[in-house]
Amino acid sequence: MITNIQSELKDTLLEIIDLNKYFSIRSNIIDILRFKTPKKIKVIDNINLKLCKGEILVVAGESGSGKTTLAKLIMRSIQSDSGKIIFDDRDITNIKGKELLKLRSGIQMIFQDPYSSLDPRMKIFDIIKEPLEVHKKKISKKELIDCVNFALKKVNLDPDEVSSKYPHMLSGGQRQRVSFARALVIKPTLIIADEPVSMLDVSIRFQILDLMKKLKDEENVSFLYITHDLSTSQYVGDNIIIIYRGQIIEQGNIHEVLSHPLHPYTKALISAIPQFNDFQEIKIKNEIESSSNCGCKFLNKCLYSSEECKNSEPTLIEANRSHFIRCYNYESI
Ligand SMILES: Nc1ncnc2c1ncn2[C@@H]1O[C@H](COP(=O)(O)OP(=O)(O)OP(=O)(O)O)[C@@H](O)[C@H]1O
Ligand SMILES: [Mg+2]
Repeated sequence: MITNIQSELKDTLLEIIDLNKYFSIRSNIIDILRFKTPKKIKVIDNINLKLCKGEILVVAGESGSGKTTLAKLIMRSIQSDSGKIIFDDRDITNIKGKELLKLRSGIQMIFQDPYSSLDPRMKIFDIIKEPLEVHKKKISKKELIDCVNFALKKVNLDPDEVSSKYPHMLSGGQRQRVSFARALVIKPTLIIADEPVSMLDVSIRFQILDLMKKLKDEENVSFLYITHDLSTSQYVGDNIIIIYRGQIIEQGNIHEVLSHPLHPYTKALISAIPQFNDFQEIKIKNEIESSSNCGCKFLNKCLYSSEECKNSEPTLIEANRSHFIRCYNYESI
């Protein structure tokens, strides 16, 4: 099991143990007629992680690496094939019905697109009060108004100004604040924010990231912040995991990983960011990803691979304290 300094000092809120998820690739008509079993691809590959109370854990990786799938597995909107998800000391891997509904008041999700994630026919007040009606059935009308106003103020929106508006009357940044208020209103301990700023103007991005920091400090909310933008991740994150094809390839304290990346993939991602351009440029090969079952998943793209990388898959090892890496040759790159 992977631990780091922070998780030794703080309480663990979320722990994922050996999590795996496969998706079936839809068969063509001939395969169906021949009763051929559909092919499966492993989208989440033996993921282990810990997120502590009051921590912002960044999950970064290229498109299709499995970030959203990981979020859906934690939210339990899809079921894992194996592994365990422990939230607040409870095994939530297989919970159903009322227990699952209760879990959703502890974990909330914010989506990438603030334009489609809010119901255009509902006023802002009704959008924010909805989770309260679902999760807190005995709440009085006065309490309900107070909770909605509190959530709106927390995200720096004026209740008198926005409550009676519809989503189309707000800017993108204001809409994303409404998404945060909606998540916040039932006082979750964990918010999974899946690319919450990628559709927003650069000037507004930092306002939303500041909001995440504020909620972490004032409300002790933990965040799983999913992004492919490493340049903003350092601004809010405490720890980071880098995912490549469903596998954690590097993990650790965010400042340590971004200032001393060890995996060639992380190095290539970082050297492509203008703010980090004092890094030596690391290139990756423009090849199709390896479909082999043995060996490193990054093999075909790596310029530094050795015989060992072809024959067996590297495991995640601790290179330095609180810095983990999945690469045989990281010391020589
Ligand atoms: N329901 C599904 N059925 C089959 N394959 C799926 C399904 N959902 C996701 N996938 C596949 O799983 C892989 C991971 O998808 P996922 O959406 O988790 O990636 P991501 O890292 O969030 O990408 P992005 O940065 O583009 O949002 C992709 O190859 C995708 O095609
Ligand atoms: Mg995604």
